Amino acid sequence: MNLKITDKKGVAVPEDLIGLFFEDINYSADGGLHAEMIENRSFEFLRAQGNWDKDYWVEYDGLYGWKPYPQDCSLSMRTVMGSPVSEENPHYLRVQAKTAGCGFTNKAYDGIYLESGKSYRVSFYARMAHYKGNLSVSVQKEGKIFAQADITCIHVPEDTWRKWNRYEAVLTPAETVRHADFVITLSEAGVVEFDFISLMPCDAVCGVFRKDLADMLKDMKPAFIRFPGGCIIEGNTLANRYRFKDTLKPMEHRKHNWSRWAVHNCNAENGYLSPYAYYNQTLGIGYYEYFLLCEYTGAKPLPVLNVGLACQYQSHELVDVDSPEFQEYIQDALDLIEFANGDISTRWGAVRAGMGHPEPFGMELLGIGNEQWETEQVDFFERYRRFEKAIHAVYPEMKLIGSAGPELNSERYQKAWEFYHAEGEKNPEFAYAVDEHYYIRPDWMLQNNDYYDAYPRNVKVFFGEYAAHPYQWDNYNSSRDNTIGGAVAEAAFLTGIERNSDVVVLASYAPLFAREGYAQWGPDMIWFDDATAYGTPSYYVQKMFGQNQGTVMLDLNGQEKALAQQELFVSVSLDEKTGDLILKAANSKDSAQELHVEFPNSMIPEEGTAEILAGEKKEDYNRIEEPDKIVPYTEAIAAGQTDFTLPGNSFTVIRIPLK
Ligand code: AHR
Repeated sequence: MNLKITDKKGVAVPEDLIGLFFEDINYSADGGLHAEMIENRSFEFLRAQGNWDKDYWVEYDGLYGWKPYPQDCSLSMRTVMGSPVSEENPHYLRVQAKTAGCGFTNKAYDGIYLESGKSYRVSFYARMAHYKGNLSVSVQKEGKIFAQADITCIHVPEDTWRKWNRYEAVLTPAETVRHADFVITLSEAGVVEFDFISLMPCDAVCGVFRKDLADMLKDMKPAFIRFPGGCIIEGNTLANRYRFKDTLKPMEHRKHNWSRWAVHNCNAENGYLSPYAYYNQTLGIGYYEYFLLCEYTGAKPLPVLNVGLACQYQSHELVDVDSPEFQEYIQDALDLIEFANGDISTRWGAVRAGMGHPEPFGMELLGIGNEQWETEQVDFFERYRRFEKAIHAVYPEMKLIGSAGPELNSERYQKAWEFYHAEGEKNPEFAYAVDEHYYIRPDWMLQNNDYYDAYPRNVKVFFGEYAAHPYQWDNYNSSRDNTIGGAVAEAAFLTGIERNSDVVVLASYAPLFAREGYAQWGPDMIWFDDATAYGTPSYYVQKMFGQNQGTVMLDLNGQEKALAQQELFVSVSLDEKTGDLILKAANSKDSAQELHVEFPNSMIPEEGTAEILAGEKKEDYNRIEEPDKIVPYTEAIAAGQTDFTLPGNSFTVIRIPLK
């Protein structure tokens, strides 16, 4: 195959093009990016069950994950209320030991993983109701202690024992251990109360994020992060929606919430009780932490707000646009912008400063609603109008994102685009971009590389949630859905997005994370367990795009169409900052293809590199036992080289400095 590169500049590539979408789904936050190792640390867990879109309920089960240790010891545990550490999270643990040496342990998702050479901070609140002894905290497995800290308790006169004291210690294991027990032991018989028991690795990024996961995101060089959802912002019901203000408080005071994903796919076969019934949100990653994550990864923040609608798949619940409650949602939007950008003399800017960040976060982008659409019962368009008017009256520079609903080329999608185009005619700032979501067969992505070629240009597109889904959705909980075939299709489609990046200005794969054994949705970009994390082929495609963004596309005069007929999908851009030519090529054939590149006289190619991601078969994928089966490798390119072999089922980024 031949490709004649031209020096004719095409569209300027927006610097925000390739970003991330983080949603607390598949245990991405609690049990995932949030480095907290204790499950149900504040004794507030709820169990959700029932028919996910018709009749479901949540039940308090505050002892979930906790049990006496050793199992047969004489210790009773109960969760009680009365004088908690935090009124927002009113339950706490009361243990009564009948003999010395009794303790209790935590499930900690899959048990505790400690790595030798690292240290872990344990902290908790406790008070000695009727107790004269001390405590010890340890991590044990099969009778062996891997790390231990002794805690000297504060004993106060009987009538003042209700004051909570915070205890802290550091555990430093000499050996690595997995699936171990976290144990708190009482040295004597007596009654002690506990709350907010936490174990965090000391290397947690910003004191919050699991380091390996945060670094995998940083390595991708994401241009933006959309957060915190997804359906999670809508909630199953409005009562269950994500309220960002609840998260702008000290950890102990962040009001616990159950996860809308806890009832996902409850059905008759599983007795209306899903394996994820105990999926809860402790909000250890709240809005402040999302902004910190953006700062850490170098991404722009793109928060998404609820517009007074519960998840439209599960509910018709809404607040009336003319009600005072709706004004609260609008006020939330204004307050969020002030929180992110206001100076410290403002109410919400002062809250941000109080949390440790006096400098503004520089938020430019804001999502109005998640995956919403207009129906006879749901006036989403009017909601958007009201948000837009209120926000732009105070913050005219804010770039607002609308929604085109959950799928392409549907009636609701058509209606949405008619709406944004009509409003955009009157007011070009009405919507900066419209969020399109598609979870779709790889073939569709290959056949529709030109999807955006003829799109109207006046309102931009946010390709906000997408993934190639090679299989029917029968079992989400496996990375086998993240095939190299799917990833190559995503890469192929992204070459079309780059070519059309005058209209598609933001793109993010979804979902981002999944914990092995805890996933409600697949495919997912990054999989992890208690100890390790690995990228899927889709992760590497995203990373290769994120790390190799040109500043301007080079016009191929339609050659990409002929190449696409041969299952070769290409884009060529120039990075004007480095002077590099960047050629991306996805080969969706099973066999290798040769590409002969002709450079114009104005370009003299020097020595470069080719980064190649390839799999033998379309169905190949990475898994926890074989995480590096498909990873990119690099080959040197000689100065003046014009012939390139593109392996079957591959995505290649060729980067060549030009003289
Ligand atoms: O990414 C998973 C879900 O897909 C998101 O929560 C929602 O926006 C979409 O339906």
